[in-house]
Amino acid sequence: HFGAADTALLKGRRILVTSGPTHEPIDPVRYIANRSSGKQGHAIAAAARAAGAEVILVSGPAEAADPRGVKVIHVETAQEMMAAVEESLPVDAAVFAAAVADWRVADAAGQKIKKGDGGAPPLTLVENPDILAAIARHRTLRPRLVVGFAAETQDVVAHARDKRLRKGCDWIVANDVSPETGIMGGDANTVHLVTAAGVEDWPSASKAEVARHLVARMAADLAGETR
Ligand code: CTP
Ligand code: CA
Repeated sequence: HFGAADTALLKGRRILVTSGPTHEPIDPVRYIANRSSGKQGHAIAAAARAAGAEVILVSGPAEAADPRGVKVIHVETAQEMMAAVEESLPVDAAVFAAAVADWRVADAAGQKIKKGDGGAPPLTLVENPDILAAIARHRTLRPRLVVGFAAETQDVVAHARDKRLRKGCDWIVANDVSPETGIMGGDANTVHLVTAAGVEDWPSASKAEVARHLVARMAADLAGETR
């Protein structure tokens, strides 16, 4: 098991966390989205707060409740999440746990699309901004520590290593979200921490414990103890 919480680990630090899915409108009543409960991201925000940090949580429409003592900015779309993140800089560290929709509908309808004439409507998709990559490569306001997530269903660590390099972030928290793992939407998580130094396989634990352990690692890193 991981060690006990320290209420002063992140005192004086400003920490940003993204969490939950984004919803990309098709019309006023329909959207496309990723599956995400927001449990792991919200737990990280709560753990950072418990460790004494000032925490800003930029959350899509998540199931998880707003953590106490945290500034929560509620957003719907990836573009709104990007704007809220940019407005929250500078921060000491940022954790991108959100399951951002990779694409949005090119021109969402202003009125509900009706069945009938013409059959099923074609949806033209355009790529959303990559929030993690943009902040990790920010010219002036890059946080000292940038942590991404990689939810994969196969070759978890290999994909995570690629993602760390491709996106320019410091760490990737990788997990296997295949349906049979029960991680998606559940209360437990089994993660691998991918850093420049290599890969750590963490023991299976509750999402709250994984959050506390990540926060302790972040605090040590910001204090100059590890990388
Ligand atoms: N992410 C982001 N903005 C996006 C897409 C992803 O900030 N538009 C972040 C996620 O919050 C996560 C990391 O990037 O921290 C990896 O997300 P993931 O979906 O695994 O990576 P992608 O680059 O979108 O690759 P793919 O979905 O094709 O595996
Ligand atoms: Ca993606």
